[in-house]
Amino acid sequence: MEGKVRCQYEKEVAVVTGGNRGIGLEICRQLAANGVMVVLTARDEKKGTEAVKTLGAHGLSHVVFHQLEVSNQSSTARLADFIREKYGKLDILVNNAGIVGTTTEISDPESFQQELAGMVGMEKLEWIRKHTTEPYEKAEECLRTNYHGTKIVTEELLPLLQSSSHGRIVNISSYFGLLRFFGGEELQAELNNIDNLSEERLDELSELFLKDYKDGQLEPHGWPAEGGYPAYKTSKALANAYSRILAKKHPELCINCVHPGYVSTDINFHTGNLTVEEGARGALILALVPKGGMTGAFLDCTEVAPFV
Ligand SMILES: NC(=O)c1ccc[n+]([C@@H]2O[C@H](COP(=O)([O-])OP(=O)(O)OC[C@H]3O[C@@H](n4cnc5c(N)ncnc54)[C@H](OP(=O)(O)O)[C@@H]3O)[C@@H](O)[C@H]2O)c1
Repeated sequence: MEGKVRCQYEKEVAVVTGGNRGIGLEICRQLAANGVMVVLTARDEKKGTEAVKTLGAHGLSHVVFHQLEVSNQSSTARLADFIREKYGKLDILVNNAGIVGTTTEISDPESFQQELAGMVGMEKLEWIRKHTTEPYEKAEECLRTNYHGTKIVTEELLPLLQSSSHGRIVNISSYFGLLRFFGGEELQAELNNIDNLSEERLDELSELFLKDYKDGQLEPHGWPAEGGYPAYKTSKALANAYSRILAKKHPELCINCVHPGYVSTDINFHTGNLTVEEGARGALILALVPKGGMTGAFLDCTEVAPFV
């Protein structure tokens, strides 16, 4: 409206995707404890409002819920409208929502947990892998959530981050997103050459991966084919590359990735060796990085590490 000047919300405002459980919920808790106004998002309204209630019961009142399915454009647009209307800016976006893109057969959860209890880290992972299948539909959903979802949410919220005096994006990545898992040196080099890489090419690579997945051509075409989880590894590597391209394009923002560590959550049937408190540490460092601080980087837990 002519002549009307909108006052920006005084607190820092953060959006966390997949905030209803696991590492996302813990990031919400720690951000709120640091005085940030947190928009806890979840695809399921009931789970999201329950999570806000739980944080509220611990004295964290500056947390509100908003529905968000990260792979859905209109859901993301509704979230952007809400933030614009209510706060006029966004300071921190944490792209945390993620899936592993597999199906694990567990007939009896109790004996499953008992069997796992006697094993150490890598044995547990190996045992889970043996009971896991990776159907094409799950691979497709994995790319859609972890890579395209991150992109959809980021693109929609970017103007609001630019309205902040210090916009930050934290992408919750994974060790599995490192380029060392790609069998093909050419593909590895292409994904590491950020100066020559475009967002369009990343979308194209996502399509090529799915085609090769369907045709059983992952190994010959250089995708991560050994050790399982090819869709997860590819989705996180593409999201890392997207994060780096964006950091280069927007030097006014701080845009970084973090591997949280092997954290005990639902995603790994609580086999992780870190607590969610420990797993959220790197994300908090990046979310609260000072203006002019690191950008285009990857943290392995809390230490800067290469993308390869
Ligand atoms: N735990 C680890 O050891 C580990 C290691 C490396 C990286 N990570 C990464 O850390 C992040 C968090 O994982 P976590 O361990 O906390 O797993 P989690 O407990 O399984 O939580 C995953 C969260 O993502 C949400 N989500 C999934 N798909 C979504 C979608 N399409 N739209 C919106 N929300 C969606 C889930 O919502 P619902 O409750 O509705 O399913 C849930 O809130 C993921 O990106 C994961 O890849 C975890």
